[in-house]
Amino acid sequence: MRTLIMFMVYLAFTFCTAISHGASKKGILIVAFGTTVPEARKAYDNVDRLVKEEFGGVNIRWAYTSKMVREKLKSKGLIIDSPEMALCRMLEEGFEEIGVLSLHIVPGEEYHELKRSVELFSKMSEGLKYIAVSLPLLSSYEDLEQVAQVLLEELPKERKTQDAVIFMGHGTHHPAGNLYVAMAYVLNQKDPNVFLATVEGKPEFEKIIPRLRVNRVKKVYLIPFMAVAGDHTLNDMASEDPNSWKSILEKEGFQVIPLLKGLAENERVVRIWIEHLKKVFPK
Ligand code: CO
Repeated sequence: MRTLIMFMVYLAFTFCTAISHGASKKGILIVAFGTTVPEARKAYDNVDRLVKEEFGGVNIRWAYTSKMVREKLKSKGLIIDSPEMALCRMLEEGFEEIGVLSLHIVPGEEYHELKRSVELFSKMSEGLKYIAVSLPLLSSYEDLEQVAQVLLEELPKERKTQDAVIFMGHGTHHPAGNLYVAMAYVLNQKDPNVFLATVEGKPEFEKIIPRLRVNRVKKVYLIPFMAVAGDHTLNDMASEDPNSWKSILEKEGFQVIPLLKGLAENERVVRIWIEHLKKVFPK
């Protein structure tokens, strides 16, 4: 008799949770800059896989913030939504709770634009109960420490301490661009032969070269500090173009080894992004 009652309580419980799950449709929107490099998209596939693993059963959608990337892909027959379009569709499909995962590196212009759009959606009377955006990869000092630790632990095994490593970040003139300076500092404090420079802001790449000389470096590893190893990695970092970092360093007499692996291909880095999402969108 007792087991029968317990069984009925169990049934009632599972039934109720099933109903409450059905009552609120939850979804995750992953927002990235986007990339036109097909090879680079494996980084996004990795994020998709890990988010699915973490939030099993929750619907996942993707959006790219770059209109240029979206248009280039469209001309090849691949349609990817803007964040706003993706949110409209999700509303239309009846999603009531949405967690937006920002796959940005720093809270710069694009992140704030996304945040503004999401705030507007939160004010719509469309039946949306909850919507929030997670913080980008580098948001706190702990993030800097954690990211630095992961990157240093996962440097190629053949890299010796006298070999330098230069991470290529994007950089921005937005005040959040200072996070790249902070990241460079944290990395360099942990390993004096590890540097970070950016394509469009501070720290500047050219200023690293004299420091390589002081440290008597002969070999340099170049690694992207961007979610994907896309356009900037292939062209500005690793190409044969005379202005690429590889060419500049080779001209200066260094042996250069570019590694084409985006941050989002690194499972431990992706977990930091996921932790940020879990803070605003608990399972
Ligand atoms: Co750019």
